[in-house]
Amino acid sequence: MQEILTRRQVLRAAGAVGLSVTTGGLLVAQTEKAPLRITPSQTPGPFYPQPAIKDQKFHDTDLVRKMDKDVAAMGEEIKIDGVIRDVTGKPVENAVVEIWQACASGRYNHARDNNPAKLDDKFQYWGVGKTGEDGWYSFRTIRPGEYPGRTSHVHCRVLAPGFRGVVTQMYFADRGARNARDFIYNSLSKPDRNAVTVEFAKATDAKVPNGTFDLVLAAK
Ligand SMILES: [Fe+2]
Repeated sequence: MQEILTRRQVLRAAGAVGLSVTTGGLLVAQTEKAPLRITPSQTPGPFYPQPAIKDQKFHDTDLVRKMDKDVAAMGEEIKIDGVIRDVTGKPVENAVVEIWQACASGRYNHARDNNPAKLDDKFQYWGVGKTGEDGWYSFRTIRPGEYPGRTSHVHCRVLAPGFRGVVTQMYFADRGARNARDFIYNSLSKPDRNAVTVEFAKATDAKVPNGTFDLVLAAK
């Protein structure tokens, strides 16, 4: 026997699968999307650069080569890029994106880092960039070395006019076993861990592995 659904039943069923019903009874895909997940905060750790990144002599987006050096830093070169968005998915212009990290040996260029690992004087250790209207940023860097107690990670801070800034850390998807033992990584919920864990892969025409780390900012 054929069942005739009431308009209310059709509306309820359509809502459950993300469709809406026009006055003529047609089902159309809803254009309104759920807000994007805001990038979680993580501790800046004890090694935020002193002086601040913008006041460092070398602070561009290429951490592999300092501006006065032709020699590349030690370690595996990688590219980190992504888009800064608001919760509706709109790219955020004029966002200042900073990264800082350990060199290949796992040492920070910071007075308080007492790790005996060797510093790499060819490595820039930090960088800053600003997004254009497409919200896009990009850094050339190296995969940071692991140091006692921590998995490989890159610290990141994003500040943008009209938004709440975020300080967070980016992790490498291929370090699963080590990530699983990292207490700062595991202080995040599973969806938040996913949001800061990046897959690095080398495209056929690319020289180095590339990872995409998109961030979502909350409005002020
Ligand atoms: Fe760190």
